[in-house]
Amino acid sequence: MARRKMAAGNWKMNGTLAALAEVDRLLADHPDPVSEVVLCPPAVLIHPMAGRVGGGPIAVGGQDCHDKTSGAHTGDISADELRDAGAEYVILGHSERRTDHGETDALVRAKAEAALAAGLSAIICVGETEAQRDAGQTLDVIAGQLAGSVPDGATALNTVIAYEPVWAIGTGRTPTNDQIAEVHARIRTELAGRFADADGFRLLYGGSVKPGNAAEIFAIPDVDGALVGGASLKAGDFGPIIAAL
Ligand code: G3P
Repeated sequence: MARRKMAAGNWKMNGTLAALAEVDRLLADHPDPVSEVVLCPPAVLIHPMAGRVGGGPIAVGGQDCHDKTSGAHTGDISADELRDAGAEYVILGHSERRTDHGETDALVRAKAEAALAAGLSAIICVGETEAQRDAGQTLDVIAGQLAGSVPDGATALNTVIAYEPVWAIGTGRTPTNDQIAEVHARIRTELAGRFADADGFRLLYGGSVKPGNAAEIFAIPDVDGALVGGASLKAGDFGPIIAAL
């Protein structure tokens, strides 16, 4: 099945309204990208960013959502609220959420169910720590996270899987091409055990993707694009990554 390539940018807790100028630059430089482009800014920038890119080739996403639709959950955002603000995607289960907020596979799955019910597409993150890789547990960890985090309602149309080794995030270190290929192949196999359309799911690699290594990473089998952190903040960095897809 042909899979449309994707470049997703995770701005994390970076950016104010002034940063939206980078989106204008990105649109000016890449008015008609062949691949799907998604930007996930801090929550307060979702609505203004969506207004800026409305109808254009860049989709907007959130970085998290609550598993409930509304209620007494101070500081949280529901999937419906993200959708209402103009988001089409939401990143779920990022390792920083799993670590900083103690998010479990079960919670990530519940959030993903809420996201899909609200009509959002989920970008569900999995990835091993350095200690787990050193202990030879990588593939088992990934399989376990997939089994626990990806809801039964996932399809190739509403769910994207991002493989982000924790030790490669923001460190400038990346796995070898063989290591990325091995994990992505395993993700595909795990999905095939549960989903009839497993072959259509996009699998993104994330962790220190830069303009200088993007093309090489995108050439790895079963890599359908990237989830990019630091290098998504500037159009001058993210643009070349989009172009490398
Ligand atoms: O979600 C993207 C991310 O965790 C990777 O960050 O800065 O290593 O590209 P970075």
